[in-house]
Amino acid sequence: MPVIEAVGVSHRYGERTVLSEVTVRLEEQRVGVVGANGSGKSTFARLLNGLVLPSAGRVTVDGLDTRSQGREVRRRVGFCFTDPDAQIVMPTVAEDVAFGLRRRGMAKADARSRVEKTLVAYGLGGYQDHPAHLLSGGQKQMLALASVLVTEPALLVMDEPTTLLDLRNAQLVARVVAGLPQQVLLVTHHLDLLDGFDRVLVFDEGRLVLDDAPAAAVRHYRTLMT
Ligand SMILES: Nc1ncnc2c1ncn2[C@@H]1O[C@H](COP(=O)(O)OP(=O)(O)O)[C@@H](O)[C@H]1O
Ligand SMILES: [Mg+2]
Repeated sequence: MPVIEAVGVSHRYGERTVLSEVTVRLEEQRVGVVGANGSGKSTFARLLNGLVLPSAGRVTVDGLDTRSQGREVRRRVGFCFTDPDAQIVMPTVAEDVAFGLRRRGMAKADARSRVEKTLVAYGLGGYQDHPAHLLSGGQKQMLALASVLVTEPALLVMDEPTTLLDLRNAQLVARVVAGLPQQVLLVTHHLDLLDGFDRVLVFDEGRLVLDDAPAAAVRHYRTLMT
């Protein structure tokens, strides 16, 4: 599994400090992140692939610095947003999945067969030429996932991927995530998704306040919220 390291990481948006002094080393296959709205979870998630750069401290993935080696980091770290519309960039389903592969220089014919297999794997077989923006919410999230996973990232960072979905689609995404061979860092308010995770981080007001097994972390989070 990749090794994610944050050392003395703080982040400010303007004058406002939203993450303070986070130091953590993560190398487990399944890492969860929980915390109240505004506690800094998304900022932390975005630091891991260089979408956000730390105001202080440093973040590395397998020793690659997100600041100076962002491009190499992003080859290893896939990112899945809460809102798939933030992520879907191409007009049709197949084009969207092919986009990342072609950017990585894969030949068109190779890309086509990879795209087909991927669409079938994520329940989108037969939707190749379908306009991406006309998919249902659940299908859009599967497309966003497919477009990230087709590039085979070693680490997948997911920021509340089930928050906008109904229960059925949330369960579908949860099943896909559970079956992934790669390392996953999942930010979520759906606490049952964390069953069986190796480790769960609890954020509160920009600080990493607990780092423990899922049951203990969820208990602490519930206490913070009452
Ligand atoms: N781009 C931004 N500019 C200014 N403030 C931001 C920005 N993104 C997030 N924030 C603020 O930073 C704090 C932490 O946000 P975030 O990391 O999104 O927390 P969470 O994901 O836990 O809800 C919040 O108070 C939020 O309003
Ligand atoms: Mg968030």
